[in-house]
Amino acid sequence: LNLGERSNKSIYFEEDISFLKTIMTQSAIAIQNVNLHRQVVNMEKLSFLGKLSAELAHEIKNPLVTIKTAFEFLMSDQSEQKINEDFRNFVGLALQETNRINDLIKQLLNLGRSLPPKFEWFNINQVIDDTILLLKPSIIEKEIEINDLRGDHQIEIYADRDQLKQVFLNIGQNAIEAMRKGGRLTIEVIPDFGSDESSEENNVYPEKIADNPYLKSSKLTIKISDTGKGMSRDELENIFEPFYTGKISGTGLGLAIVNNIIKEHNGNIKVDSIEGLGTTFTLELPTIRSLTHANEGSSIGC
Ligand SMILES: Nc1ncnc2c1ncn2[C@@H]1O[C@H](COP(=O)(O)OP(=O)(O)OP(=O)(O)O)[C@@H](O)[C@H]1O
Ligand SMILES: [Mg+2]
Repeated sequence: LNLGERSNKSIYFEEDISFLKTIMTQSAIAIQNVNLHRQVVNMEKLSFLGKLSAELAHEIKNPLVTIKTAFEFLMSDQSEQKINEDFRNFVGLALQETNRINDLIKQLLNLGRSLPPKFEWFNINQVIDDTILLLKPSIIEKEIEINDLRGDHQIEIYADRDQLKQVFLNIGQNAIEAMRKGGRLTIEVIPDFGSDESSEENNVYPEKIADNPYLKSSKLTIKISDTGKGMSRDELENIFEPFYTGKISGTGLGLAIVNNIIKEHNGNIKVDSIEGLGTTFTLELPTIRSLTHANEGSSIGC
């Protein structure tokens, strides 16, 4: 507790300090409560919106596929129609917008599907590879360099495979969108297999394996950094709010979904960003085991 000089120049008494300490503790609790309340409101908002929009999205999906196919046909060489430049531009625009609605619907359906994770063991590197592959077209188009710092270590995580893929896709997509041509996307995976000593304090892991003392304190840190435009303090405070977007064509659902999934996995998410320089998303997920060790025959049994 750092106190400045008192306005009446007298010293601080024991009671003053104890009084100030009480006020500080209560303020800290109040701040924490506000943060927790915000998180709960966000979750409730997401779950309500999710159910509502999933039904709506489901109804829109089929007619949209028909419209999209028709536009694609008009734009393709198979079309008998000899269309002029203006017409082609308009159809192109309509197709672009249809794709945008399609993306929105996919996100809304994901929101509606925010079911509890289906936990299973899988190789985290495979899921990251799949994500990079899916992002490849925009990576190539923007001439983005991938700085892969994952190393050879093969790690299995106990999590929901599809949901984690969604997390990497949403963060990766944002990173690419934030960068100009020639940016750099860095991926780092840092395992911490923990030790049984510290396991007592950590009791936040999936019930099924919570009894295994060797796995209790394990943790995986995944860092995804870009050299994009970065974010202001104000933006940073809002990015996990459903429907908050800084983009003309964004839906503002990507990071709300990410946050939801990470919380459901008892994980943590942290964002560091410097305007004009770039952004780093740090994810922490519990419960991993080493495949590399397993192959060497020294893995812990589970
Ligand atoms: N890596 C990043 N660099 C800079 N700004 C970012 C980054 N990631 C997120 N943001 C900011 O956070 C906002 C919210 O992101 P979020 O993914 O939730 O929505 P979105 O990208 O706008 O739309 P979508 O739902 O299509 O993903 C973005 O619009 C952008 O302003
Ligand atoms: Mg996004």
